[in-house]
Amino acid sequence: AENSNKRPANGLPEGQPVAKKLRGLPETYVLPPNVIVMRETMQTRGMFTIIRDEKTTHQDFVFYFDRLSRLLIEEALSYLPAEEVDVMTPTGEAYPGIRWTRNLCGVPIIRAGEAFEIALRGILRDCVIGKILIQRDEETTLPKLFYSKLPKDISERTVLLLDPMLATGGSAKAAIQVLIDSGVAEDSIMFINLVSCPEGLQAIYEAYPKVCVVTGEVDRQLNERAYIMPGLGDAGDRYMGTE
Ligand code: URA
Repeated sequence: AENSNKRPANGLPEGQPVAKKLRGLPETYVLPPNVIVMRETMQTRGMFTIIRDEKTTHQDFVFYFDRLSRLLIEEALSYLPAEEVDVMTPTGEAYPGIRWTRNLCGVPIIRAGEAFEIALRGILRDCVIGKILIQRDEETTLPKLFYSKLPKDISERTVLLLDPMLATGGSAKAAIQVLIDSGVAEDSIMFINLVSCPEGLQAIYEAYPKVCVVTGEVDRQLNERAYIMPGLGDAGDRYMGTE
């Protein structure tokens, strides 16, 4: 089936923990099967080191966040459904290639998710971009939808849902439900984030097991204020310079 859930976790054998020593995850930790962790290189580690460092300037944070986001989105795109197609090269010989079968729509969760837009537009020149604003309802403390604007044909697109930090998964789950209510199939949603934690990954997997989660790094845990540890602080504030 198109965009089915049979994706390798980071190209490693199924269920293999990824870089757990680096982030202090327990030996026994196994990623949920719907999760892909971006391939780790010395480049990605170096850039994560810069954006996690509390001493990093606003300018550098934005620069390296943008660079990492491009890699992360490219990683997500590498799992899109495709079909085989031959093209003729100028040498007169055919090249057996592929072409993608679905149109895309990027949907940042306002506000921090909008930090992905520069990378998104840099990779997908004609990308359609929707928006979802979810905030905590002060009375119920539950995530509440305040605004959404999505293209009319969103049900025919693969949706890249964007938010840099997957903490409790509360707003991500609410945003996924907005997409499903708009006609998007669960297995046509990729949720893209730079830093996640076991609690958030588990919450998404339990509620929406067919949503593919593409994450940059998996951190150890949430603290009592629902911040990711070690994390990088408030991603929206650090990117927008509103600290
Ligand atoms: N949102 C953030 O920006 N940082 C966290 O650690 C958790 C949620």
